[in-house]
Amino acid sequence: MSEKILIAVAWPYANGRVHLGHIAGAYLPPDIFARYQRLRGRDVLMVSGSDTHGTPITIRAEEEGITPRDVVNRYHPENIEAFRQLGLTFDLFTETDTENHWAVTQDVFLRLLENGYIYRDTMMSLYCPHCDRWLPDRYVEGTCPHCGAPGARGDQCDACQRTIDATQLIEPRCAFCGHTPQVRETEHFFLDLGKLNKPLLDWMRTDKEHWRSNVLNFTLNVLESGELRGRPITRDIKWGIPVPVEGYEDKRIYVWFDAVIGYLAATKEWAKITGHPEAWRDWWQDPNTRSYYFIGKDNIFFHTIIWPGMLIGYGGLNLPYDVPANEYLNVEGRKLSKSRRWFIETLDFLTRYDPDPLRYMLTINAPERNDVNFTWEEFLRRNNDELVATWGNLANRMLTFAYKNFDKQVPEPGELDAADEALLARVEDAFQKVGDLLEGCKFKAAITEVMAVAHAANRYLDEKAPWFQIKEDRARAATTVYVTLRAIDSLKTLFTPFLPFTCQRLHEYLGYEGNIIGRLYVDTLAEEHKTHVALRYDANELTGKWTPSQLPVGQALRKPKPLFKKLDENIVEEEIARMQRQTA
Ligand code: MF3
Ligand code: ZN
Repeated sequence: MSEKILIAVAWPYANGRVHLGHIAGAYLPPDIFARYQRLRGRDVLMVSGSDTHGTPITIRAEEEGITPRDVVNRYHPENIEAFRQLGLTFDLFTETDTENHWAVTQDVFLRLLENGYIYRDTMMSLYCPHCDRWLPDRYVEGTCPHCGAPGARGDQCDACQRTIDATQLIEPRCAFCGHTPQVRETEHFFLDLGKLNKPLLDWMRTDKEHWRSNVLNFTLNVLESGELRGRPITRDIKWGIPVPVEGYEDKRIYVWFDAVIGYLAATKEWAKITGHPEAWRDWWQDPNTRSYYFIGKDNIFFHTIIWPGMLIGYGGLNLPYDVPANEYLNVEGRKLSKSRRWFIETLDFLTRYDPDPLRYMLTINAPERNDVNFTWEEFLRRNNDELVATWGNLANRMLTFAYKNFDKQVPEPGELDAADEALLARVEDAFQKVGDLLEGCKFKAAITEVMAVAHAANRYLDEKAPWFQIKEDRARAATTVYVTLRAIDSLKTLFTPFLPFTCQRLHEYLGYEGNIIGRLYVDTLAEEHKTHVALRYDANELTGKWTPSQLPVGQALRKPKPLFKKLDENIVEEEIARMQRQTA
């Protein structure tokens, strides 16, 4: 049986359209990883869905005067459409407001309660007498008690990334009315993180050399500080999953507690809809299965402390193998901000540009070790100089040349000389090298290496100049064409995880049939009392393989077209102006 890999992707809140910061941080990297692993013949399951609970959704609903469910109904399908257009091959992208997710969440809750990892206690919470309601964390603003930054929310400080107890906020204000809230007592359920500290530390101290240092250090610091205490996992709110215990009907499970359970719930949902309800166990109970969690850096605590803690408390389920969290993407030197409307919506971007150039740009300049800056100038330059002039031009000029001069087919080579051999060797070596980088979630380094091979192929072609060779020695030109086409065919495979759309086209120009990677589609899933839309992927048609080209001599080529479009210089100014209008 082939190796299994669970790819768990952060659940975006269904309170708005995903922007390029989300894509660069959490959504594109797992798709590159999934495509690569599938080409390696591994059994991949990539799941996620819309996070439909919590104050991000209710705040939006209140702003627009609609219900939380209306908010989900608008943004969940829009984000699915953005992911589909970007080619994100989720085996299942579902949502948390499903019967399945409610049931799995309540099961986890009850099991943790039974196993002694959840306890009841009273706590002080903020109540706004002016609004006559409890204030969830996000409905309170004030000064961060850790770092003193103003404008911290009651759950987390964006300036120092630390989580906050809302009652500790300095000078708290109700986000609705601006009045100072009162501190009142309320009863809740708590996750016993104190009890989980030791087992979590034991886990973190074993076999974590492959973790990114920021994730590893952050987590070890928290666990070694000995400051972990129980955290409330229920709230005095109406929107959310009911607490499955009598007497708590007016409370709900906290959004973060249910959201992380989504990974397990979505796997179970996938197993059910694909007709093998027990298949979820292969992804969660087989100790040989590796699970990778792709998230932005603001989610680290929940994925390296809370969720592993919950898994330990539940028992018998795999803990994360790796959590390759990313830093942030800034645009034109400014931090992305929803409230200041400084962002680039993915769907909007894709009405004017193709998905592969975006995937390229967000990978070659990925926020893996530090925050990065997206500029339109760089997008233009990388598209025109690297995709069009280097890789696209290599493929296009050679395919066109072969199509015209060698009877629309792959020519038969003569004996290879040292330069021919050297190029093919360079290309073949790249499979190991790029594969190792991808295996280690080093996507930026991986695509940089593939691009370097494309450069090498270009140089080879310029030196050989088959357009001159053909005038004197047709056989020698045939060898050059064959070697170049074979290099291009290998580059196609090496580029496939990153640039799937253009690589599929190239695959067809080279005369192959079939789909390199499988089929992505939008589906409507029915449960007993509701339906929801989902993004699904079917790997059955996958024909690609992570191996160097075996391009058959004589294979009929198809009429090629350029893979990439040259962009006009004007887009830089236009796009910046468009963003400025958006913020106005
Ligand atoms: N919705 C959260 C956010 O956008 C992410 C949740 S990841 C999850 O920050 F796994 F916990 F769902
Ligand atoms: Zn108020």
